[in-house]
Amino acid sequence: MKAVIAVGLLFLLQNAIAVDPTVPGARDEPFANVTGSLDNHGVCQCSVYLPDTTFPVQKVETLEIIAQMLSQKVDIELSKVSKYTRAIEIYEQKILNITLRVESMEKTSISYTELDFQLLKIEITEMNKLVTQLKSTLTGSNVVVEQLFEEIRNLSLLVNGLESLDKHNILAIRREIVALQSKLKDCERDRNQNGTTTPHLPPGSCNHGGIRNISQPYVTQLNWKGFSYKYGAWGRDYSTLSPNKDLYWVAPLNTDGRYLEYYRLHSSYDDLLLYKNARDYRVQYGEGSGMAVYKNYMYFNAHGSRDMSKLDLNTNTVVLRKTLPGAAFNNRFSYAGVSWQDMNFNVDENGLWVIYSTEASTGNIVISKLNETTLDVLSTWQTRQYKPSVSNAFIVCGVLHATRPVNTRKEEIFYTYDTNTGREGRISIIIDKVMETIQSINYCPADHKLYVYNDGYLLLYDLFFSPLLLL
Ligand SMILES: *[C@@H]1O[C@H](CO)[C@@H](O)[C@H](O)[C@H]1NC(C)=O
Ligand SMILES: *[C@@H]1O[C@H](CO)[C@@H](O)[C@H](O)[C@H]1NC(C)=O
Ligand SMILES: *[C@@H]1O[C@H](CO)[C@@H](O)[C@H](O)[C@H]1NC(C)=O
Ligand SMILES: *[C@@H]1O[C@H](CO)[C@@H](O)[C@H](O)[C@H]1NC(C)=O
Ligand SMILES: *[C@@H]1O[C@H](CO)[C@@H](O)[C@H](O)[C@H]1NC(C)=O
Ligand SMILES: *[C@@H]1O[C@H](CO)[C@@H](O)[C@H](O)[C@H]1NC(C)=O
Repeated sequence: MKAVIAVGLLFLLQNAIAVDPTVPGARDEPFANVTGSLDNHGVCQCSVYLPDTTFPVQKVETLEIIAQMLSQKVDIELSKVSKYTRAIEIYEQKILNITLRVESMEKTSISYTELDFQLLKIEITEMNKLVTQLKSTLTGSNVVVEQLFEEIRNLSLLVNGLESLDKHNILAIRREIVALQSKLKDCERDRNQNGTTTPHLPPGSCNHGGIRNISQPYVTQLNWKGFSYKYGAWGRDYSTLSPNKDLYWVAPLNTDGRYLEYYRLHSSYDDLLLYKNARDYRVQYGEGSGMAVYKNYMYFNAHGSRDMSKLDLNTNTVVLRKTLPGAAFNNRFSYAGVSWQDMNFNVDENGLWVIYSTEASTGNIVISKLNETTLDVLSTWQTRQYKPSVSNAFIVCGVLHATRPVNTRKEEIFYTYDTNTGREGRISIIIDKVMETIQSINYCPADHKLYVYNDGYLLLYDLFFSPLLLL
């Protein structure tokens, strides 16, 4: 553009000078008659008198100034364009990277978790935002940016399509998990039968010397409501009354991490894994992820109160509501990293328990054994462990076990309180986890397993027990 302006200027100047001198006696003759002379070096010299009124000297000066300003502006615009071009190149690189990833996802028949898609979607949204910003800074339409825009739109459509397609893959994987699961069970049983570990424990038996170790989490499954339902609990009913009737429950809290509103029941473990034959219910409202299921009733903290609710799972009705005397509530003494769990209901071989705190206990853990029929407190134990400094707790054979985080991938069972003897203890058993926060732990005495809700993922662990020491 600079060159064009320079040429234009020249053209103007030429026009200004090129007044036809061949027309003699032209009216208003612009040029006076002149004589030329030859100098010592043989160069012809002559003078021309240009009347000020006809040659636009001032205009030319102005033009020169304008031309200079214009060329400066062009320089600025040019540098902007090269800046945006670089930015666009980076975005194009990124799009290429993501496209390659999406393509490889398409090609391989491996199933991808919701998390993979979630990350992709976040990246695409980020890029969309940047390109929109870019568009608004570049005035006028720009073909490259428009194309970038369309590519991003295409990409997000593709990812959405893939995600819905992938449901089938996830189901296939779930079936494989079920098969692997039974193999794993056999493996565990074989190992346990081989002297070094506890012999197989019958359901509900306390014929052991306490927890010695814990398995890897050998099932990981996203809760049925999805990735954003990070808070909640799940478990298996321990019903000595009907050993043939199985019941698994999953209760993701609302995404505020406070209200229990929806829960789901499955009659078999395989159904749970395949998200099949589910019964979904709504309840108004529980608070926190401390609920437990015992003999076909769910027990939970009635929201915004120090009341306990007892919900009949056959009819989805609250059949009893009773105050837990002195209990702190409304997120007063919840667990470390887990809000609104002022009351943590637990089931062990002996029945129903609740773990909580009171003002009188100054936030230390209080354990009460409940009559599950009337919700009356039968006995109470005061511990010296501050509840908000532990991440969760569960009870096995009357012994409270409390956990604390070690890092984002490991948790530690570090504290015990034995209600049989009133004694506290320190242990160290490391629990591997897949996400950062353990929202809840439910123990099932029927299979001696821990049902852990880990930021939306349902994890299952086997407990290994020490042999009973006969003194
Ligand atoms: C210019 O001057 C020369 C000599 O002085 C004369 O011969 C000639 O006719 C003049 N031309 C015009 C156009 O006046
Ligand atoms: C694209 O991926 C390559 C290698 O996978 C990496 O080196 C490069 O930094 C990526 N580019 C962008 C813009 O993310
Ligand atoms: C986006 O998808 C449409 C329809 O599939 C296609 O015609 C278009 O070329 C795609 N655009 C880009 C930039 O890939
Ligand atoms: C149990 O241990 C014995 C040797 O101590 C070994 O021969 C046997 O194969 C083991 N059984 C299993 C099921 O691992
Ligand atoms: C506990 O089990 C884990 C595997 O789950 C194992 O790596 C670890 O060594 C065991 N610890 C003890 C003390 O047996
Ligand atoms: C629980 O309460 C019911 C009804 O009052 C009573 O029949 C039962 O014996 C109580 N159970 C225990 C363990 O106290």
